Parts: sequence; C-alpha cells; structure tokens
Amino acid sequence: MNKIPFSPPFVNQDVISEVLDSLSSGWITTGAKVKALEEEICNLTTNTNAVCVNSWTSGAILVLKWFGIKEGDEVIVPAYTYSATAMAVLHCGAMPVMVDIAGDFTIDVNSIENAITTRTKVIMPVDIAGWPCDYDAINALVTKESVKSQFLAESDKQALLGRILVVSDAAHSIGSMYKRKPAGRLTDLTIFSFHAVKNITTAEGGAICLNLPSCFDNYEEYKLMKLYTLNGQNKDAFTKSQAGGWKYDILFTGLKVNMPDVCAAIGLAQIRMYNSLLLVERERVARSYHSFFSKHQHFELPPLEDESRKSCFHLYALRLKNCTEVQRDSIIEEITQKGVAVNVHFIPMPMLTVFKNLGYKIEDYPVAYDNYSREISLPIYPQLKNEQIDYICEAVLASYNKVLLND
Ligand SMILES: Cc1ncc(COP(=O)(O)O)c(C=O)c1O
Repeated sequence: MNKIPFSPPFVNQDVISEVLDSLSSGWITTGAKVKALEEEICNLTTNTNAVCVNSWTSGAILVLKWFGIKEGDEVIVPAYTYSATAMAVLHCGAMPVMVDIAGDFTIDVNSIENAITTRTKVIMPVDIAGWPCDYDAINALVTKESVKSQFLAESDKQALLGRILVVSDAAHSIGSMYKRKPAGRLTDLTIFSFHAVKNITTAEGGAICLNLPSCFDNYEEYKLMKLYTLNGQNKDAFTKSQAGGWKYDILFTGLKVNMPDVCAAIGLAQIRMYNSLLLVERERVARSYHSFFSKHQHFELPPLEDESRKSCFHLYALRLKNCTEVQRDSIIEEITQKGVAVNVHFIPMPMLTVFKNLGYKIEDYPVAYDNYSREISLPIYPQLKNEQIDYICEAVLASYNKVLLND
C-alpha cells in the first residue's frame, strides 16, 4: 500500500475550472467570486449574511475588535482547541480564560458558569471535529438574569447587546447540525475556517456568519465588517479600480484580511458539491471506521450523531482505552511506519510554551489532558478508498496490539 496522507485537499476538474475562470477574468482579488461564495455559505447555513476573510484567526480578531474587546477583558475558551482560539484574544490585548471540556470534547458548560466574571465579554465554544457544543445551554446561560446583570458594557456594540457575546469557533463544523439547525445559525456569530485541511477550503480563508439578535441590523453589521476587512476603507478595490473611481476615505482603523477571488474560487466549487458529494463521502469514511473499531473493546469512538446533533465528520478523533500519553505516542510511531499519516487533535493549550509562560497549567484541565493523551486522529477525506480505510484500521489495531498487548 502506498503512503496514505492525512488530509489532502479535494481538487477535481470543477475546482480547477473555477480557479482558471478567476485567473482569466482579469480580476483575482476580492470581487464576484467572494460575493458568490458568501451567498453559497448563506444558502448552506440558512443565514442572510456571511463575510469572507483570509483565515479563521483574522475573522476572530475582526469580530473581537468589532465588539470592542481590549485590555482587561476576558474571553472564555476551552483549553482543548487549536491555539488560534486563544491567540485571537491575546491579539486584542484581552485574556483568554480557559475552561475544561466534557467527555465529548466540547466545552464544559458548568465550568463556563464558574469562570464568568464582570470582565467576561465573550464566550467562544469550539465544535471539535465538527461535533456541535451544547448551544441551548450556552445561549441560555448568557441570557440568564444573574449573568446578564454582571455584564459591564464598555462599547456601543456591547451596550446594544447587553450581555456576553457568543461566538462559535466553527473552524471544523461547516455542515454540522444541532437540533435541526445548521452550524452558522446557532450563536450570535459563527466563524468557519477554510484552511487547506478543512471540509471546504480556499487554501487559507474563513467566513463570519452573522446571526445577531433583532436589536442589531445584521446587514448593517455585515457592511461594517466588510469595511473592517479592507483597512476601514469605504470603497473596495474593484470599485476603486473602475474609471473615475479613485477617490476613497478611510473611516476607522480596520484590518487587511479580505479573501481574494482566486482563493474563493476553490471554495465556491467545493461548496456547490458539499452536500451531494463531499459530506456524503466523509460520512462513508467515518461510518467505516465506526463499524471496524466498535468491534474492538480497546477503542472509544468519537460522537458522530445523536438525537440532537450531527457531525460534519471533519476529524475522526479515535481514543484508545487504558493507554498513557507515552504509549499513544509509540502507537503513532508504529502507525507511521506502516505508511499512514495520523495526527493528534489537540495538544491542549496549557501544554504549549506561550500559554505556560502566561501561567496556565495542564493540571487544571484533567479532562482535556485525558482526551489528548489517548487521542489519535485518523485520515478522513472524500478521496479515501475503501481498501485504504481497511488498511488504516488494520494498521491502528496492529499498532495498538503491539504496544499495549505485546502482540
Ligand atoms: C479549532 C480551530 N480554531 C481555529 C483554527 C484557525 O483556523 P485558521 O487556520 O483558518 O486561522 C483552527 C485551525 O486549524 C482550528 O482547528
């Protein structure tokens, strides 16, 4: 069996044609393709406004700045996520307050409540692997009178909302469902990632979905966020490039985080075949792993579907039973030697230098550490053939047996 990569992008003739169309159109940065992608994201998520940006990270910084986040503010995040979730908070001068997770990888709602202070401005739950958090509980928490009454508004947007903002880190979860609603419609704001390994990619990129309560005009906030993506400039590059369109103004200190059309073209082709092909194929892979690993007692399966949620199968986060971190690492070595690239999602943030230096300690997050120490993410993508899936399953089982059972 040839080597099996972890997560190659899905590039077929439709993707290539859409990119070539952008390249030959005479316009490669933000323009018609981005607009079309924003519309497709709205269709998929049953939303009316989505802003494309050049990464999840820049989208998160934009949203936090839009809400007026600054030094002295606190943003609650799970300890178990990619560092970008907390990094965006640090970039705004605020403090990420990390809380532990529950056994299904999602942020522990009870821990959120205990972490809320008068400085808390935002909660950022993360849909790890595409598995939605308990959004009813989180949304109920921020509207609870005892929590609302603690909220200290220090910007116009904060005063208008009058409570903690919920921004879901949906970097993994485009296409996931929670209580019949799609990711993108579950919290005030949702941010997707279109990084190269994501279910839908634009090479690098992301999108912010606006679902703010009715005290906001979501379209007005969409327009404001579009300005934020372009240095606060009141005219986009396309309009400015037209004959006679040279004059512009800069209205405020924005960012420069717009998505180029040539990148949007990849995502545009992919999103059009997402429900009919890409998601179906990801589910095939996840269900195949499920049927194999459920027959073996040493494995704990990741959640894929229950009565209220359905994953979009972004990662297959297998956990090993009765296994230490060192043994898990040895099992990964064995799997690697068999030519299969696997990964770990995630090294909890308190284990990373930048956060250790800020005083976070992994001992405070026992569930995050337990899940990390036993986790191996298996390859999952539409191109994966059934015989490759079989090979991966056997490679994982043989590696487990060798390391833990001396078999
Ligand atoms: C949970 C999570 N949040 C945020 C990000 C950051 O996304 P981006 O690379 O688009 O900035 C990632 C990236 O992998 C992620 O996994």
